[in-house]
Amino acid sequence: MIEYKHFDNDFRYLEISNASVRAKIALQGAHLFHYEHVGEDPLLWLSESSFFETGKVIRGGVPVCWPWFGKHPTNSELPQHGFARSSVWELLGTKEIDEHTSEVILRLHHSSGSLQLWPYKFELLLTITIGQTLSLALTSKNCDTQAFEITAALHSYFAIGNIGNVHVEGLAGKSYFDKVTEQENTQHGNVSISNEVDRIYLKVDYPVSLHDKTRTIHINALGSSSTIVWNPWKENCVSMADMEDDAYKTMLCIEAANAPGDALQLAPGEEHTLTTIISSKSTRP
Ligand code: BG6
Repeated sequence: MIEYKHFDNDFRYLEISNASVRAKIALQGAHLFHYEHVGEDPLLWLSESSFFETGKVIRGGVPVCWPWFGKHPTNSELPQHGFARSSVWELLGTKEIDEHTSEVILRLHHSSGSLQLWPYKFELLLTITIGQTLSLALTSKNCDTQAFEITAALHSYFAIGNIGNVHVEGLAGKSYFDKVTEQENTQHGNVSISNEVDRIYLKVDYPVSLHDKTRTIHINALGSSSTIVWNPWKENCVSMADMEDDAYKTMLCIEAANAPGDALQLAPGEEHTLTTIISSKSTRP
């Protein structure tokens, strides 16, 4: 079943439930902010103090960062991670594929507002397939008469038991840009987190796996060769209005991306799809 819902302030979202999963998608940002297998803990993390307000970004789930990832390369006054995550998308269609799988397709295209921030005509489609496996496929189409460059990320926040007990497998030997130290580095072994981590891994061979005490989450991707791993750690949480002070303990972002260093050039009429496919397996004895 797919239903339209809204919060008291009229902030609209879709609630999806089928035999296997429950999910919620805000129309603002085409933002999947809840996903859980029936009877299990949510797979995606959502901040207890997230905003659900027009124009404010939801903290958690899967924000869509587009058409630039991170700070705008030349204009620091433009919004971090682009404007797609704070724009209201149009619901293009929904489908019950089978009793365990639902599909939602949302669309964003250029407007007078977007053209002021980024001077190109585009169409963006996000197809979210909600089943035992979760997939998000973001298709960017150049509808302009000139080529443009984009960076993008499906900024997935994963819910974890405790940051001290998790590790990320699949990135060993990969080069990364460390945004905290602003240095290039190479990953040795698995990634464990014991302080602020903000890294762009390049030339990644998916899948990347997040091992927690009671489950392993596999993150696969297509049309992406970079992965961001982000945990803000304590001081940054304290300074963020939409994160509890200790929120860093229960979340980790692993983002399938076309990050700087892996930017895409799209010629007029050309399109590209960035897909992330997420599955999990319980490791409870
Ligand atoms: C990560 C970036 O993807 O997103 C970090 O690598 C950034 O640098 C983080 O701090 C959160 O960004 P925002 O804009 O949602 O606070």
